[in-house]
Amino acid sequence: MDIYINNNKYQALDDETIIQVADRHDIHIPRFCYHKRLSIVASCRMCLVEVEGAKYPQPACSTIVRDGMKVNTVGSVTEDAQKSTMEFLLINHPLDCPVCDQAGECELQDISLDHGDYKSNYKEIKRTVIDKDIGNLVTTEMTRCIHCSRCVRFGEEVAGIKELGMTGRGEETKIETFVNQSLTSELSGNVIDLCPVGALNNNLYKYSARTWDLKQISSISSNDCLGSNIYYHTYKNEIKRTVPKENEQINLSWLADSDRFGHEGIESEERILSPFVRSENKLIQSDLETLNQAVSQKMQEYTSSTTAVMSAQSSCEEMYLFQKILRESGIPNIDHRSKECDFGYQDYYPIIPSFDIKLSEIEFMENIILVNVNISKEFPILSVYLRNAVKQNSTNIISLSAYEYLENFDISHSETLSPKELEKYFTTTSNNILSNINKDKKNLIIMGPSTTYLKNYTNITNNISRYAKSINSKLSLLGDQCNTSGAWAMGVVPHRLPGGIEIAEFKNTAYLSSYPKNDLLIIYNLEPEYDFSNDTEIIDRLKNSKFNVFFSSYMTDSINKYADVVYPLAVQQESHGSYINTNKQLQVFNQVISPRGQSKNGLEILLGLSKRLGINIDDEQISKDINEILSKMNIKSNYILIDTIEMTNEKNTLEKIIIRSSNSNNPTLRRCKSLLTTHDNDDFMSIPNSMKINSESKITINESENSFKIKANIKVHDKPDNTILVKMNGRYAQKIGSYNTSVDLS
Ligand code: SF4
Ligand code: FES
Repeated sequence: MDIYINNNKYQALDDETIIQVADRHDIHIPRFCYHKRLSIVASCRMCLVEVEGAKYPQPACSTIVRDGMKVNTVGSVTEDAQKSTMEFLLINHPLDCPVCDQAGECELQDISLDHGDYKSNYKEIKRTVIDKDIGNLVTTEMTRCIHCSRCVRFGEEVAGIKELGMTGRGEETKIETFVNQSLTSELSGNVIDLCPVGALNNNLYKYSARTWDLKQISSISSNDCLGSNIYYHTYKNEIKRTVPKENEQINLSWLADSDRFGHEGIESEERILSPFVRSENKLIQSDLETLNQAVSQKMQEYTSSTTAVMSAQSSCEEMYLFQKILRESGIPNIDHRSKECDFGYQDYYPIIPSFDIKLSEIEFMENIILVNVNISKEFPILSVYLRNAVKQNSTNIISLSAYEYLENFDISHSETLSPKELEKYFTTTSNNILSNINKDKKNLIIMGPSTTYLKNYTNITNNISRYAKSINSKLSLLGDQCNTSGAWAMGVVPHRLPGGIEIAEFKNTAYLSSYPKNDLLIIYNLEPEYDFSNDTEIIDRLKNSKFNVFFSSYMTDSINKYADVVYPLAVQQESHGSYINTNKQLQVFNQVISPRGQSKNGLEILLGLSKRLGINIDDEQISKDINEILSKMNIKSNYILIDTIEMTNEKNTLEKIIIRSSNSNNPTLRRCKSLLTTHDNDDFMSIPNSMKINSESKITINESENSFKIKANIKVHDKPDNTILVKMNGRYAQKIGSYNTSVDLS
């Protein structure tokens, strides 16, 4: 249909509101309560416009267009209405712009200037509202609130947790948490962007800079495999805050708290600021030339007994060069799967793991089966899509996990299963809830990264793939790190070259734990205490090897104790490169701040080492090679169908499982104090109820030859039997042993 705005003709769709048509054609209408991704409440009245034929000005955000409608966004009727609304909204607003963080980007300030009056008729005393403590991430200045309710609607409609609410009426109206609690949603920081005034503020950013002094640099999240698009705002070479960069295919207008507050760890005191070499049993400062000389010499000396493990948080460029340096030096033992312990699946694995469908297609799925994943906590942005699927399409969601996870969307059925039960579940579907799944429906199975930590991962993944095929379901494999797909594509696995090209002689070759001898260990951006399938095992290997090379941004006890050389690695925000996200998209990120101390972009360090080794390559050639590899890759489905498989035996052993904590999933996140003090981050150990252990008693876990006392809250659970669950966050002050192993308690 056609409508007229300010006497110009515009095309409009049925059911569109005036503000939607105006926004599409860049015609400015002021607003406070309206937000394109929230429901319409039409409460602030700031968007009043003249509609010809209507007695009074109409709210543009809630008025549906009619064919031939004539709207005036300028002119005395509209302007008078807007001026009165503005005066009304400012009655109780403190006008403390000089000390308000929002100043310079405040919608109230801007709209007041454009549409308000310079004087007010209100002479009475303004009301004040006492601030609320709603946690470490978001601080409040509630006197500034104009009751637009965007924050309340966000909680109800997007985050799925009704944390903020509006209480009282009229003069007494307040925004507060219902039971005086902190915000717990992993999306809570989005209320800061939504708040049109300075009532909800970013605690890390508060009072640290003025918005007009900030420089905006676009980047990509390094915290999960979705690759949310972000802007870093910097001042004097420091990241002051992170905000979402809108991307309709990934994060829409939102950002997970780990992305928003995750830069805090960059300035940790544990940053490694110069190269180190060991001398007289101590790490002493050195220079890159000395390190390169020592490392290249050891690589030649221990070629056949070297193992190299690299984080999948590294960029594609670092990965490509890392494997090239090692392979051209005759070292094939390269891997990124440091948290895995079962590699029987690897020859049947897709070239790269991916989500397999577009995120926007999630809402059209009729059945979604979640396997070992807590979407709301581990992939908060994904939870927005799943929540939408339930709301829009009544999608039936089933959750099968070792722990009863809470989600911010409705789950129709959930079961807690031990790894052995999970393996069997998909082969005996006639006895369980899966018997209700119809293969003619749109089905999707999403497998969480913690499944890869299990010692029967091969069997689980094979059984799930066979079941997925039988019900015509897509299979989504969520990566553990932001560039897990990149690690597979760039050949950071022993049995495949970049592009997924098989190396026949390394078929069935698995990583570190299978290599008989490690004289030289090269560990790239991984911390032995937290990033390995078994912390005891890797530390033993470090003790027994002849030379240990670390590329790391942070110092840990084990690096300090066992490293022979340490390259000072810049963090992602100090580097440039690219990641491949779960949508199989290559996304480029730029350097945001300069590296701290003498730390350097990993690519630069590796180029220095390659030069020393006589490998002739530069960053331009690396980009060319990567583009060529990606253009030739033939990516098929994610099914992992293994020729012969032996089911795990039924013996009733007690299994320990470490629950994945996404806020602890990379070295920088581990050092973000604000994130780690949100209260769902409590550490715990949960024991089967049937074990009748007094929660006061001291519990020792015995695994292989090692014993651990886990100091954490002790909980009990009914199911799964024979399973001990451990959740640890941040930088845990204790050994936790293996991620999944058989144990005894004493
Ligand atoms: S706190 Fe901000 S977003 Fe929430 S109602 Fe008040 S003004 Fe609106
Ligand atoms: S934006 Fe239309 S009434 Fe608030």
